[in-house]
Amino acid sequence: QHFWLRGPRSGPPVEHDATTGIWNVHGFAEAQELLGDPATYSSDTMRVIPKGLMPDAEELSLEGFITQLDPPEHGKLRKLVTSAFTRRVVAELEPRIAALTGELLDAAHERGRLELVTDLAYPLPVIVIAELLGVPSSDRALFKKWADALFERDAKISLTEPTEKQDAALRATLGPWQEMSAYLAAHAAERRRHPRADLLTRLVEAEVDGERLPAEQVVNFAIVLLLAGHITTTMLLGNTVLCLDAFPEQQKRARADRALIPAVIEESLRLFTPFAALGRATTRETELGGVAIPADQLIMVWLGSANRDPRQFPDPGVFDPGRDPNPHLAFGRGIHFCLGAPLARLEGRVALNVLLDRFDVLRTDPDDPVQFMPTPTMTGVRRLTLA
Ligand code: HEM
Repeated sequence: QHFWLRGPRSGPPVEHDATTGIWNVHGFAEAQELLGDPATYSSDTMRVIPKGLMPDAEELSLEGFITQLDPPEHGKLRKLVTSAFTRRVVAELEPRIAALTGELLDAAHERGRLELVTDLAYPLPVIVIAELLGVPSSDRALFKKWADALFERDAKISLTEPTEKQDAALRATLGPWQEMSAYLAAHAAERRRHPRADLLTRLVEAEVDGERLPAEQVVNFAIVLLLAGHITTTMLLGNTVLCLDAFPEQQKRARADRALIPAVIEESLRLFTPFAALGRATTRETELGGVAIPADQLIMVWLGSANRDPRQFPDPGVFDPGRDPNPHLAFGRGIHFCLGAPLARLEGRVALNVLLDRFDVLRTDPDDPVQFMPTPTMTGVRRLTLA
């Protein structure tokens, strides 16, 4: 059995890590309660990071980003972007996603063996989001460079130890960040002059109650889409193939009855939660899972642990698409629930169908071991060769 099938993280539902100063939430019920109470658990985590701990934090602050906003500002912005990024816009992408998957697999076929991440799982979501926004997908080497640099930032955060390393990691992301903002600002400005049939134009023109998105917010949201919209879906695709490889019975069933695929995707999200942890900050003294937490504390909500909490999911280490309901928290919960969930689910379903059509059996190559992402907050493969 693969090592990654081991049980959930052990540890109490809520615990304080004295070394880093961070509170970790592992329990399902606790995570759910916390995500449903944005007044107590704010998304504006920068407010609790001591000044001077990360000297560049101010410049790099995600202030105004939808993921960091609390009510009422969050609701206003969310309404505006939702009016541009609708379910219909996403549903219309289905034939294009199927065609792209086919093209990417054809190209890999000509080269020989299929390495799922480089050949399909990485490029597919990036091309889809680039085409959706209306920026040239041929620039995707740039997007990859920016995303790689920014995810480095994921390096250790500690509230108690201001380390050289923390500062250096943060500093290294400044350049790529500014480049990416400038790139998207230029494209958005161009759409203001010459509207097109793309999401960037729809964002520029979005209007709710007579208000439009400020230019800076269009850029910020495009950044979120470009970043949130690709690496997580890459992991979803790789992880799903991994699950079907490890549980061949489930692969046979899904192959025979394609109507099971959406449930396969949901169970993959539960077992291997791509975005494994979210940050929150307490606005007041509170109690969670019987543990008292003071005001102004940084909390990490471990969605990956919550999704393997045996109090909620019996036999949590088993890949069982038959779980019904499957209330996993992979897309979060509450007001910040992933806006891209319909797109991620669509990409997962379409790509998996094409893979099942093309391969008699989806199996990892025993001579080329699967490699995993190195960071604890990301759960996914970064190399997976099919036999
Ligand atoms: C928010 C996960 C794909 C756009 C979130 C959140 C999670 C998440 C956990 C909640 C963050 C929080 O509460 O702090 C995932 C996973 C994905 C995925 C696991 C793939 C498997 C996408 C895609 C897009 C996207 C494809 C866009 C194209 C967003 C946006 C938000 C968000 C805009 C912010 C919503 C808000 O703050 O109101 N995502 N996501 N995500 N996601 Fe996703």
